[in-house]
Amino acid sequence: MCGIIGIASNKSVSMNIINSLKKLEYRGYDSAGIATLTNNTINEKKCSGRVEELEKILFKNPSEGNVGIGHVRWATHGIPNTLNAHPHSSEKVSVVHNGIIENSDELKKTLEEKGFKFKSETDTEVITLLVTESLKKSDPLESVFKTLKKLKGSFALGIIFKNHTDIIIGARRGSPLAVGYSKEENYLGSDSYALKSMTNKISYLDDGEICVLSKSEISFFDANQNKINKKIHIVSDDENTADKGDYKNFMSKEIFEQPNTAKKCVSEYIDSLKKDINIYNFPITPGEIEKIILIGCGTAYHSCLVAKYWFEELTSIEVEIDIASEFRYRNLKFSTKNLYIFVSQSGETADTAAALEICKKNKVKTCSVVNVVESTIARNSDWVLPIHAGPEIGVASTKAFLGQLIVLYILCLKLSSVRNDIDKKSYNINIENLKKLPDAIAKTLKSEGDIQIMAQEFLKARGSMFLGRGSSFPIALEGALKLKELSYLHAEGYPAGEMKHGPLALIEEGLPVIVIAPKDKYFEKTLSNTQEVIARGGKIFFITDIKKRLLSTNIRLRLRVPHLDNFLSPILLTIPLQLLAYHVALLKSCDIDKPRNLAKSVTVE
Ligand code: AGP
Repeated sequence: MCGIIGIASNKSVSMNIINSLKKLEYRGYDSAGIATLTNNTINEKKCSGRVEELEKILFKNPSEGNVGIGHVRWATHGIPNTLNAHPHSSEKVSVVHNGIIENSDELKKTLEEKGFKFKSETDTEVITLLVTESLKKSDPLESVFKTLKKLKGSFALGIIFKNHTDIIIGARRGSPLAVGYSKEENYLGSDSYALKSMTNKISYLDDGEICVLSKSEISFFDANQNKINKKIHIVSDDENTADKGDYKNFMSKEIFEQPNTAKKCVSEYIDSLKKDINIYNFPITPGEIEKIILIGCGTAYHSCLVAKYWFEELTSIEVEIDIASEFRYRNLKFSTKNLYIFVSQSGETADTAAALEICKKNKVKTCSVVNVVESTIARNSDWVLPIHAGPEIGVASTKAFLGQLIVLYILCLKLSSVRNDIDKKSYNINIENLKKLPDAIAKTLKSEGDIQIMAQEFLKARGSMFLGRGSSFPIALEGALKLKELSYLHAEGYPAGEMKHGPLALIEEGLPVIVIAPKDKYFEKTLSNTQEVIARGGKIFFITDIKKRLLSTNIRLRLRVPHLDNFLSPILLTIPLQLLAYHVALLKSCDIDKPRNLAKSVTVE
């Protein structure tokens, strides 16, 4: 994780670095720092905590300089304190780093034997001292090349040099890095999002590449030190970027944006005139796809899990799902008849990107379902299906989950149609229902009042359980994940039918249990499982889409969402769970957009 920014300009850069770091805080927010160059001096300032703290330090004691680097950290090696915050500077260089140096202990030992002293507990400081050592005999570029050869692991780096006050060197292996072009200044950034407010002209470094940027020029080199050219991308100017408007925080804005997210996504893919889905150029002839493998992490994995139920129900294609961090290390049998689908909001998640890389090495066809179309995962896959959700800033994913579900469902419908797995009439009905989804989401959001009441009941709870069967099981997992990450309250998601195989032992008087029970083929079974929980004292919150009032006694609260069809139920049932996690966190005064220990984009393994 962590965020990097670098600016080489003809004017003072510190305030622009601070502003960019604020945009990068979604990548990490436990400490922050900046280093600029003036009169052959490295001005390093850093602190634990948020960029706001760093800004206060600079306000009292400004940092001059037309070249500088900045960093927001998500701690991996060493606790989040000022000493471990980046940049890490010696008397000659200053370094910001994103990633993990796996052989840092070994390198540290060798450097200490040579008399180098370390100030921090980080793995990054070995890079600072290796470059410093190389500078005795080499120029900056050569020193960086020599240093990179000694490093194992993943990194994106930004480096400035006391005696070369006009340049920043950037390097990438594993962790994303971009450069931005402007008339009188150039930029380095860990993603294009941080650069967008300054430029829309971006180039992305590939693994092994190095860039040298000054205010007027950017040069690129491959791993063999050959000069190379890079393509310049004009990045899309996403609407409503980092503005939370009248909302208290980004998460509430993003939850309430979901009717529009759905509308935009549906209208991008549905051709209302032809009553068809606009998805073409499949990387494998649809009729020849034997298996689909869906891969993601966290919330994105949950959307894969929901999609598995859809693909199994609507198509004749075999489906597997996997968590990216597991997929990448399994001994898999790859097949060119399989389509490997990678789901990721950011498109930068390290495990998902590595899993995709393995597929590429095995020469199988890949598809990505992403929000950020300029991302590494999108650029590296054969086929991209964007979710069109617009920037998602809250660390807890809400509207992107919704977008992922919609795109996966649309893909599933299209495949079922082109493979003749579905009849024309059902296909048309399903498309018509999809078009009604935005309104149904808007209606579901009206349940907020009931959910606020429900949230009160979680305040004294020692834990909670989320239960569902069929496609409501992944929704239970997602509900539990949202509550955990936002409110720090323990929550377990389970298939309701699994309860008696162990988790029922956790049920005690008053334990909040959320049952997700749409009117599907599992409904009666879920009711029986609910009775088993009631009999042991569980406090039931029943979320359903049926009108009939069932189980009127012993249910603490019954919440009804609109019903369109069984395929769209998981999407609608997700909304109350997002609101629940949000309101419990709000009552507990948690940091909603930046939950503790987390980061939006998990770019380390
Ligand atoms: C969701 O609320 C989480 N913060 C997290 O699980 C996230 O979905 C996961 O890290 C994957 O991120 P990605 O979609 O950007 O790949």
